[in-house]
Amino acid sequence: MAKKFTVTPWKVEGEVDYGRLIREFGTEPITDSLLARIRKHTGELHHFLRRKIFFSHREMGWLLDQYERGDKFYLYTGRGPSGNTHLGHLVPWLFTKWLQDKFDSELWFQMTDDEKFLFNDSLSLEESNSMAYENALDVIALGFKQGKTFIFADTDYSKTLYKHALKVSKRLTVSTAKAAFGFTDSNTVGQYFYTSMQSVPAFLPSALKGKNIPCLIPHAIDQDPHFRITRDIVPKLGYYKPAAIHSVFLPSLEGPKGKMSSSIGESAVYTTDTPELVEKKIRKYAFSGGRDTVVEHRKKGGNPEIDVSYQWLRFFEESDEKLKAVHGDYKSGRLLTGELKQILIDKLTVFLKRHQEAREKARKVLDRFVIMD
Ligand code: TRP
Repeated sequence: MAKKFTVTPWKVEGEVDYGRLIREFGTEPITDSLLARIRKHTGELHHFLRRKIFFSHREMGWLLDQYERGDKFYLYTGRGPSGNTHLGHLVPWLFTKWLQDKFDSELWFQMTDDEKFLFNDSLSLEESNSMAYENALDVIALGFKQGKTFIFADTDYSKTLYKHALKVSKRLTVSTAKAAFGFTDSNTVGQYFYTSMQSVPAFLPSALKGKNIPCLIPHAIDQDPHFRITRDIVPKLGYYKPAAIHSVFLPSLEGPKGKMSSSIGESAVYTTDTPELVEKKIRKYAFSGGRDTVVEHRKKGGNPEIDVSYQWLRFFEESDEKLKAVHGDYKSGRLLTGELKQILIDKLTVFLKRHQEAREKARKVLDRFVIMD
């Protein structure tokens, strides 16, 4: 029997079958020929592409057709600012940064303080709004280009956004929202409206510049229901459908199931965690694919496919050679769980040290990235 799992923009639960999601959502798998086509323009492939961490898309072929004709695209992604940024959030952003470098694209980054207020009982609008600017520091810290990167919180950019959201909402029926999100009569009016706001950046630069500009949205697959609606409606407003490229979720520390959730503090590593805390979390919580005893582990070897430390290295160790060596050594039993954890701890410590320094520096340039009315 097929295993049960749930993937909606607000809930990810169970062991996700990504192949099944491609079929159920109606997206396209990323094929080797698409990768070869991307490589023609980028020279190399990001390890997220090589490892199928980005595994699915909508209309990348069309986007590249346009690009090859000289019609450059912009990037659009976003964040629901409900709390501190964790490593899972960085996955689409790291990839977006690579795309910006390779294609010299603008990035429009939406902070949905409205969304998190509407969908989270215990969060005030003031809290989600200030969290938007805390999270923006993490975005800037990744090195996005100043002058080509525009970050906005919905409630501070609403004069610009609202009139376009209205046009989307006029074409969005309650029954469509119910079908896309599983909403019922108990969902609030605000929740029904919200998706209109998330559609706007998929055509806003076109609206502002008065000419159609192709858009690519890199995002985790759970956001796809929003963009199904977007793609349905925006051609009726005279704009291109946005293309999209979809990532899997970084597994939570406790097991290779679902996405890392910010609401369970222990299952996530935050960008602001100290090296000591990162070490503690990984030693204590990272689910192990190792054997019960060293003797047994040496004899039978560990299972990297279910081992969270190994799975995280797939996201954070860029070298295929190093990753392959870890895989082989763990599987054969040469590498013990504690040693594998240490490799991950070292990797993340270096990454976070750099990130935290850049994050502090970002405070000084925040206002050069943020746009508001
Ligand atoms: N809804 C997203 C979240 O909860 C935030 C978001 C807004 C977003 N626009 C986006 C994410 C575009 C990806 C792409 O995190």
